[in-house]
Amino acid sequence: MPRILTGITPSGTLHIGNYFGAMRPAIELQAGGDAYYFIADYHSMTAITDAQERMAFTRGIALDWLACGLDPAKAVFWRQSDIPEVCELTWLIGSLTPMGLLERAHSYKDKIAKGLDANFGLFAYPVLMAADILLFDTNIVPVGKDQKQHLEMTRDIAIKFNLTYGETFVVPVERISETLAVIPGLDGQKMSKSYGNTIEIFGDEKALRKKIMGIVMDSRTPAEPKPDADKNLAVQLLKLFAPKDVAADFENRLRAGGLGYGDLKKALFEHYWNFFAPYRAKRAELAANPDYVDQVLRDGTVRARAVAEKTMARARKACGLR
Ligand code: ADP
Ligand code: TRP
Repeated sequence: MPRILTGITPSGTLHIGNYFGAMRPAIELQAGGDAYYFIADYHSMTAITDAQERMAFTRGIALDWLACGLDPAKAVFWRQSDIPEVCELTWLIGSLTPMGLLERAHSYKDKIAKGLDANFGLFAYPVLMAADILLFDTNIVPVGKDQKQHLEMTRDIAIKFNLTYGETFVVPVERISETLAVIPGLDGQKMSKSYGNTIEIFGDEKALRKKIMGIVMDSRTPAEPKPDADKNLAVQLLKLFAPKDVAADFENRLRAGGLGYGDLKKALFEHYWNFFAPYRAKRAELAANPDYVDQVLRDGTVRARAVAEKTMARARKACGLR
């Protein structure tokens, strides 16, 4: 049975890109029975420097995962920093990771280009991520397309370690859904916490309605036919939430002319809001029961640690450490 593993960084509130790109595929895979999902709080260190904020986002993401269907009876669920061996493994594999490999990382280059300070953590981010994956003998990593390069680096690192010190790590592959690889944000770019263009999974109804109604469209009149209806951002997003025939009907009406952008956005909001309604109820229930959530994470840590300790012992031995 293949081992599935994925993580999400608690650097903000989760959005529908996270949901469709990573969470839902992961939740669908948990039924297979060997699923490992974690909250990547060490990874948030380069994005957040406020301790309270980090704790709040971490708690929020725990609630989000559980509300959206992560089942602790099927999947092991923990907080990355509860298993600090991952930092030890980062050092072991980092010592074999070429500078050139890290210098080519898109995510690093993008963040520098956006004006973030270059620091060791940002540069070493892919090594920590490789350690996350290798520590748990992972076979499959469900992620969005933006993580593809990180998985390629993970494979390069695993292979290099295995060649240098002997067979130690499982070489993993990514699982990227073609249709959901990149969910667009409110501005049409990739939706991302760091671009301020997100539609949150959970949030205040009024604020979210305003965000969706505020999506900027072109100035064509409602009556004008729009042959490019399939490229319309609201149509693309509606397809995520509405039944196929309903979304197709909106697309056809937009193409033919006669459907106004306002009505289209209103429909998008309604379908989006209803789509998450059951999860919203579940989340409220979980938020009222923090002890349960803590217990889930504690149990998850025990189960995850059992795997991590074995891999770590193997890795130390392979390279002649204690
Ligand atoms: P963000 O870019 O918002 O900070 P993360 O980097 O924390 O998101 O991503 C967590 C997971 O969600 C990753 O697997 C990532 O590939 C996926 N993901 C993030 N944004 C999108 C998107 N717009 N479309 C598809 N998947 C996404
Ligand atoms: N870097 C990932 C992201 O920003 C989060 C992450 C950290 C991750 N470690 C991981 C994803 C291990 C998959 C596997 O989205």
